[in-house]
Amino acid sequence: MKKMITFVVAIIVVIAIGFGISMGHSNKKSSDQKDQVRTVGILQLMSHPALDAIHKGIVAGLKDEGYTKGKNLKIDFQNAQADQSNLKSMSERFVNNNDDATVGIATPSAQALADATKKIPIVMGAITDPVAAKLVQSVKKPGGNITGVSDQAPIDAQLKLIRQIMPKAKTLGVIYTSSDESSQAQVKMVVDKAPKYGFTVKKYSISSTNDLNQVAGQMVTQVQAIFVPTDNTIASAMPTLSSVANGKKIPIFPTVDTMVKQGGLATVGLDQYQLGVETGKMVAKILKGDKPATMPVKFMDKGNLVINEKVAKELGIKIPASVQVKAEKSGEVFK
Ligand code: TRP
Repeated sequence: MKKMITFVVAIIVVIAIGFGISMGHSNKKSSDQKDQVRTVGILQLMSHPALDAIHKGIVAGLKDEGYTKGKNLKIDFQNAQADQSNLKSMSERFVNNNDDATVGIATPSAQALADATKKIPIVMGAITDPVAAKLVQSVKKPGGNITGVSDQAPIDAQLKLIRQIMPKAKTLGVIYTSSDESSQAQVKMVVDKAPKYGFTVKKYSISSTNDLNQVAGQMVTQVQAIFVPTDNTIASAMPTLSSVANGKKIPIFPTVDTMVKQGGLATVGLDQYQLGVETGKMVAKILKGDKPATMPVKFMDKGNLVINEKVAKELGIKIPASVQVKAEKSGEVFK
């Protein structure tokens, strides 16, 4: 009997010790994962609907991966209002605060962050050409403290769509801002590819939104359709461009969904919000320990067919039935 009691006590002791250890363990785990608040600095170049959608997507992507704003995540969001000295001081602020990771939305923001730190990870939020912008050595192996998502648009699909909707158009106007590296990368691609689709390209550059009205006014008398790259300045003044062009019944084919919504006619474009979600997911990976140097830049090659029915009516342009059906089924139609 005595033996029996000793045995039972021994078992209880073993279980109790085991329980104690596992409790201690799980306590430690929860303090690592839950209680630790990580800080991410997000630097956005300026406000326009595309960049605003990317910002929203980033917060959602982080949440999908277990980092919830206000719980285990602090987001220090800064909008530079397109001002160079803001970009610099805001980047320095993130570095002084020793943020766990930073995000640059649009090329100039990522470049300002790159100037401010070679140590803190920088995630590029929708940067068209990260190599040309001197942000990474190569897109497969970035090499430094920077990686992220490119929003390089499916230019061939876009030119093909313009040809489908405008079978007789000859001259395609391309309008861009001379200082915007992101749009320059695309202008070059359009100039190279347009002849394949039977277009002659005419380029029109502006230096700021102040020129837009006048340059657009001249352009609409010389072209049959307009292509707009992912140009931050024009994206911020899309209503000006659409009123000039649509007023003269010249359709605008932008690169992104948000610009179709603001008066463009159609595109095969990348979902801006989704670009943000992918960016947020990359930030989460870095917070979990992955290193930017070995994380390839992510490209999204499939665009969505987006059309603006209201604009089509206003311009008296008939969208081919096949295009209309496809947009309704798998893309988006703004009414
Ligand atoms: N790609 C732009 C850059 O690198 C930023 C951008 C993302 C953008 N989406 C856009 C610009 C839509 C204009 C429209 O700076």
